[in-house]
Amino acid sequence: MSAKQNAPRITLGIETSCDDTAIGIYHESDGLLAHSRQSQTIHDQFGGVVPELAARDHINAIEYVLSDALSKASITLDDITGVGFTQGPGLAGSLLVGSSFGRSLAWGLNIPSIGIHHLEAHLLAPFLEQNEPQFPFLALLVSGGHTMLIDVQSLGRYRILGQSLDDAAGEAFDKTAKLLNLGYPGGPLIEARAQEGDPTTYALPRPLLDKDNLDFSFSGLKTAVANLIAKEQPIESEIITNNIAASFQQAVMDTLVGKTEKALCQGDYNHLVISGGVGANQALRTAFDTMANNNGVVTYYPRLEYCTDNGAMVAIAAHLRLNNQGGQDLGFGVLPRWPLSELAVC
Ligand code: KG4
Ligand code: ZN
Repeated sequence: MSAKQNAPRITLGIETSCDDTAIGIYHESDGLLAHSRQSQTIHDQFGGVVPELAARDHINAIEYVLSDALSKASITLDDITGVGFTQGPGLAGSLLVGSSFGRSLAWGLNIPSIGIHHLEAHLLAPFLEQNEPQFPFLALLVSGGHTMLIDVQSLGRYRILGQSLDDAAGEAFDKTAKLLNLGYPGGPLIEARAQEGDPTTYALPRPLLDKDNLDFSFSGLKTAVANLIAKEQPIESEIITNNIAASFQQAVMDTLVGKTEKALCQGDYNHLVISGGVGANQALRTAFDTMANNNGVVTYYPRLEYCTDNGAMVAIAAHLRLNNQGGQDLGFGVLPRWPLSELAVC
């Protein structure tokens, strides 16, 4: 597959790993031209994502999301010079929709395409900003499915320093919100309640913070919150909900910030990237900025709309990868379980 000669490189990024159908369009010199996202609401009635329904909904949404992104960018399909799509990890059926759509599109347009690792896309999302991170950096990837500290030497050179041994931080936010009957996704709902609450009301654990490693564990904290909520039943006052939310959020923040500080001290980092859905939390950002500032380290975050799953992060990752290694052959298979450590080093 050869790239279009002399045309500016414009890369389409497709994200369908879970319950967002999203497409971003990245221009090599003008940056992100547009992105479009349709978040699935079909799962609300079930209290969690139903994989088969998610895959069907991606099929229904993807053509609209593509035409919406193209029209926002004021370009046509013929202007696209490369396509990237999330190949894994994620839900197999959902991944298959984006990858078959992306590969077919590239085949039809005779342009290169590439499968993108979802976590790499989160990691590279801050490169969408004017003030790009500089390699090497320490990254904290904190999302609904992952909590990881990663040493990033350059594109594709990732070493996992520590990760959650059980629940991810975002999962703990979601489960706590569910126990408090706040809804889904839990992160923003807990954050809003926490703003009104007192974080010192309840003493909750800071898991593994005193251990000499960089791993996380949030299942014990989740159980402690569940026990606390059970003890406080019936919760009839907003003040109790707000105080539980604030105390829980503070425990997560102290743990994430403490472990990240430990990693910064062990390595020789000047730059820290925070990415993934939980990175959208403003209180968390403030806590990280303070800690980083005390350690002479510069922080980088994607803007809020690129923290949770989106097509823009896949477009920038695909742009960087296609520049670096070119396209892949036209076969496609998805990788629902794809460890970041198995990404090829370029
Ligand atoms: O990165 P993401 O969209 O999906 C995964 O790849 O997992 O992250 C979603 C997670 C959810 O658990 C959600 O509750 C959490 O990010 N989240 C937040 C906030 N916004 C989203 N957690 C805390 N505070 C927020 N403001
Ligand atoms: Zn994600």
